[in-house]
Amino acid sequence: MCGIVGYSGKQNSSKIVLEGLKTLEYRGYDSWGIAVQDKNQIKIFKEIGEIKTKLSMLPLPKTSCAIGHTRWATHGGVTMTNAHPHISTTKDFILAQNGIVENYTPLKNMLKKKNYKFKTQTDTEVIVRLIEQQTNKEDTFRDSVRGAFNMLEGRNTIIVLNSKQKENIIAVKNGSPLVLGIGKDELFLASDALAFTRYTKDVVFFDNLDLIEIKGNKFKIYDSRTGKEKKYKITKLNSKVEEVSKGKYDHFMLKEILEQKDTISKAVNYKLEEIKPLIEEMKKSNRIYITGAGTAGFASGQIAYFLRSISKVDILDIRPYDFTSYLPILKKDDLVIAVSQSGETADTIEVLEYAQEIGSTIACIVNVEGSTIHRMSEFKYLIHAGPEICVASTKVFTSQCVFGYLLAKSMVGEYTEAREEVESMSSELGEYFSEKTFEHIKGLVKKIRGRNHFFILGKDQNAYIALEGALKIKEISYKHFEGFSAGELKHGVIALIDKGTPVFTIISDDMCSKDLLSATEEVRARGAYTVGVGSSKFKGEECFDYFLPVVKGKGLSSIANVIPFQLLSYFLAVSLGNSVDKPRNLAKSVTVK
Ligand code: G6P
Repeated sequence: MCGIVGYSGKQNSSKIVLEGLKTLEYRGYDSWGIAVQDKNQIKIFKEIGEIKTKLSMLPLPKTSCAIGHTRWATHGGVTMTNAHPHISTTKDFILAQNGIVENYTPLKNMLKKKNYKFKTQTDTEVIVRLIEQQTNKEDTFRDSVRGAFNMLEGRNTIIVLNSKQKENIIAVKNGSPLVLGIGKDELFLASDALAFTRYTKDVVFFDNLDLIEIKGNKFKIYDSRTGKEKKYKITKLNSKVEEVSKGKYDHFMLKEILEQKDTISKAVNYKLEEIKPLIEEMKKSNRIYITGAGTAGFASGQIAYFLRSISKVDILDIRPYDFTSYLPILKKDDLVIAVSQSGETADTIEVLEYAQEIGSTIACIVNVEGSTIHRMSEFKYLIHAGPEICVASTKVFTSQCVFGYLLAKSMVGEYTEAREEVESMSSELGEYFSEKTFEHIKGLVKKIRGRNHFFILGKDQNAYIALEGALKIKEISYKHFEGFSAGELKHGVIALIDKGTPVFTIISDDMCSKDLLSATEEVRARGAYTVGVGSSKFKGEECFDYFLPVVKGKGLSSIANVIPFQLLSYFLAVSLGNSVDKPRNLAKSVTVK
């Protein structure tokens, strides 16, 4: 949540920061702002909402040093006053934050008593005033920033542009991500390396509480607690530099849905020898936990399902924000598997920090190389889905699930079979993604778009698919879609069904199909408009008013079943005129709790 960019070097700094912010907009799009160092002054430009202003229209001088921020509001409404970066009273420095100052109320009260004035409702302004207070006490600007930062509680990463020293940026990382890019005579700072990988892939990752000071094209790293200089390591990113563009598509979401044909294959592109170490670790672990939030949480659930049902692994699938009661029973010889797209989700990281403290082993299934979760893990598996820009996750979900399937099958000696199944699903998807399929789904959109409450029934292998399908549609259509296990129907939910209520049933050719057909009959008898999603074997069943057939997918049929919901979500949101890639109130990377 919130994206930070900094640049010092030979190029036009506002161009680089603007490009970076545009790339990081998935982290928040309530407002944005850029500050450049112009001789001994700071020039600022801020705007509410998405980045619409082009570089040529940006009323900022060409300079060599700038910082920028894209906001997902936490404290204080979406206004120009609250938009970052925030300038100091004397206009000597300007600051932006990604995170939350948890103790901002006592700090603000303390500062007010000392006559410091506040103009915004943000917690960030407290950091600005704290630095002002410290400048009267410390010798160097770096020590003032350090002194102020050490008073903060919570996960917060800050970036400060100082106007008094040429090309001087200071950043401190705690909790929220930050990475430094080293180019030829130029330096980049960003919440995600994606913001600058077109210029350099040489990066430095930081530990929490690292302070980075840039002066021109030189930098030093300090421990923010002690002030002592630290050594650092330059890492070369392996991932292919991918241009983040929509290509011929109107939205990233459709592009990313269609990419699944290839991304599922990339996710399982591991040799058996590369998977074996995790299998061995699972075998010797006392207890295995798997965790993730949002869509990644549903992927964790699906992976746990595969591990239980295919390889008889005793695995606990717990959401990170619900982990508290498990913490006292977490042991040194337990294994925690984290599932995450960004590798930066605050709740998930917090569980891993605890696991690290007591010495449990950490493994991860993530999409972003070098992310916090990736670096914290001993067993690291990248799913190589490429950048996912649409806030609603699609290709990453299926990639994480197919990796889980490969893991489960490899444990029972069926590695080759799993790889073949993924390949065959990939080629089936090639045919499935056609105008015919899209028109069929759009036909359903016309029938249901006027309704506000929808239900999705799943069971066993499709239970998490029902939850993920419903989440996808909620996120961008803002309609109330509720997914649940068909077994729950008669225990309450059926009371909500009345004439015309759309009810979706996810049906695979498995031992649950009879129960699902009966559940569909029951809701239909109460007036529901029934939609079947799944194996074409059930296409002709009378209980369905509409049917969305899905590719066979063999053992992967549950994963395939999510795809019609992704497409439905997309076409429904487009027909409602919603912002598809940047839905209201959401952000892709949830780096605050
Ligand atoms: C947000 C995103 C979801 C994502 C979740 C967890 O809610 O909108 O798409 O599943 O965070 O993020 P992660 O990066 O850990 O997968």
